[in-house]
Amino acid sequence: MLFFMQILEKLDNNDVIIMEGLAKIIIPNPERYKRPDGVIEPAWFPVFYNPLMKLNRDLTVLIVKEFYKRGFFIEALGGTGVRGIRLAVEAGLEGIINDVDPLAHRYIRRNIRLNKLEDKVYPYMHEANSLLNNFTFTGIVVDYLDLDPYGSPIPYIDSAVKPLGRKSLLGVTATDTGPLTCSHPGKMLRRYGVRCVDTDFSKELGLRVLIYNLVFRAAGQDVALKPIMSYSYKYYYRVFFSSDRKASSAYKLLDECRGYIWYCRDNYDRKIVREPVFLESKCKHQHVIGPLWICKLGDKDVMDKMTRTTDPLYSEALSFTRKLIEEIDINNPYFRYDKLFGYHRKNMPPISVFIEKLRELGYKASRTHFDPRGIKTDASLIEVHRIISSWPS
Ligand SMILES: C[S@@+](CC[C@H](N)C(=O)[O-])C[C@H]1O[C@@H](n2cnc3c(N)ncnc32)[C@H](O)[C@@H]1O
Repeated sequence: MLFFMQILEKLDNNDVIIMEGLAKIIIPNPERYKRPDGVIEPAWFPVFYNPLMKLNRDLTVLIVKEFYKRGFFIEALGGTGVRGIRLAVEAGLEGIINDVDPLAHRYIRRNIRLNKLEDKVYPYMHEANSLLNNFTFTGIVVDYLDLDPYGSPIPYIDSAVKPLGRKSLLGVTATDTGPLTCSHPGKMLRRYGVRCVDTDFSKELGLRVLIYNLVFRAAGQDVALKPIMSYSYKYYYRVFFSSDRKASSAYKLLDECRGYIWYCRDNYDRKIVREPVFLESKCKHQHVIGPLWICKLGDKDVMDKMTRTTDPLYSEALSFTRKLIEEIDINNPYFRYDKLFGYHRKNMPPISVFIEKLRELGYKASRTHFDPRGIKTDASLIEVHRIISSWPS
């Protein structure tokens, strides 16, 4: 995994300095945390730094740059501080990087010094909820707040909403993809209040459940959180919200975007519905899953603006954003192309051929970042079945 990291210097205390974006970051020497098979294991670092999360941080910088030329951020769960430092160096924000772990706090302080940010970025060592709850009383407007926990963000969302300004941004990571994709249905019910079912669009289901839960909790404090970009990547979800501190906006958002997905396990049919009711159908195994987020998973205008930059520093983030843009206007959950052809016992043509066919028939259709075997389309599933059943064998 070393090839993700550009090591600038080895320090004599078993740390190294790496470059990420435009920031120099001191991290524990990755060479010391190798598994027996030689692969570096970031989870073993005494202070958390995961090179695989660079895309997540690149997108954070890009989206924040789109909204603010200056402003104030809080990174509530900082690790080495890399994200906050990049926000200061690359997006010009001032802010706070917090971590409850004294060793992480030490790395954060050293990294602030290394990047000469002592006048712009302040290291804190508090439990995140207590920092966020107390911060509300400082009167300082937080323009961007970042939650990047181990596992679920649910333990932090109630306090995270409090210090947000009238119009701010919130970035949230969730790595509890097991419960969210229904591998642990009990945990899904406990943590997210949803009795889940194994579907062929489990990754999208998890994102919709996550978004709804965060929006619902914020609405309880009269804050409307609207997802402007969200995605699933390897083992985590990420959602960026714009916030609006207004009871009527919070109400409107929930009223429009809280709903369910009706799902038939016999033939993968699905429909987005507003109420949890079974539909008149021949389906023997019907489920109604939710509540969950039934509106779009992001804002095309914001993502279009993000792709205007030509800075090669963000090339991976740009091509990823372009992928999300392709599918953003198709709100139906993706279907698994291989499963549908399997259902009809037909040989699959290349996925691009099938997508082209859907487009020729006048439907929107695209691949999806959620799954290489998935297709998003505004055609109904029954229509997709019809096309496949008449496909030459
Ligand atoms: C996933 S890491 C953060 C990584 C970092 N944001 C990045 O981009 O590299 C989560 C961090 O949260 C810290 N942490 C865990 N629980 C916390 C709490 N209740 N309050 C503050 N920090 C906490 C851990 O010490 C850890 O460094």
